Amino acid sequence: MIGIAADHAGYELKGLLIEYLREQGYEVKDFGTHSTESMDYPDVAHPLAASIEEGVCEWGIAICGTGNGISMTVNKHAGIRAALCWTPEIAALARQHNNANILSLPARFVSNEEALAMLKTFIDTPFEGGRHQRRIDKIACL
Ligand code: RB5
Repeated sequence: MIGIAADHAGYELKGLLIEYLREQGYEVKDFGTHSTESMDYPDVAHPLAASIEEGVCEWGIAICGTGNGISMTVNKHAGIRAALCWTPEIAALARQHNNANILSLPARFVSNEEALAMLKTFIDTPFEGGRHQRRIDKIACL
């Protein structure tokens, strides 16, 4: 199960990514928002993060206008490593080096094609482990 959440700025991109994922055979849990009406991204970000921490969702996608507010919110959760990505190369490194479990996207600054390319890369790229696991182990909530 893949979780996805977006604010009003990311609503349309969220729909596109859900369609792609379902076409590929993934089960998707949509945490909202469900329209372009202005809303507060933490209201959808916290439930997405909690679902990953609880193991209901394996990993997730978080979208807002810049990607910053929603990734700041989910990264408050100890079990979340959300990576704000704007190129496929960054998405690949977020998996290889950071074992990111949330792909965070800036809907107002990437095209639909760029977002899809990042999602495909995020899905296809494994974590490298080794020295990167040691570094991840040193990330802690203070
Ligand atoms: C909404 O206008 C915008 O502030 C939000 O989508 C996001 O960019 C916040 O970080």
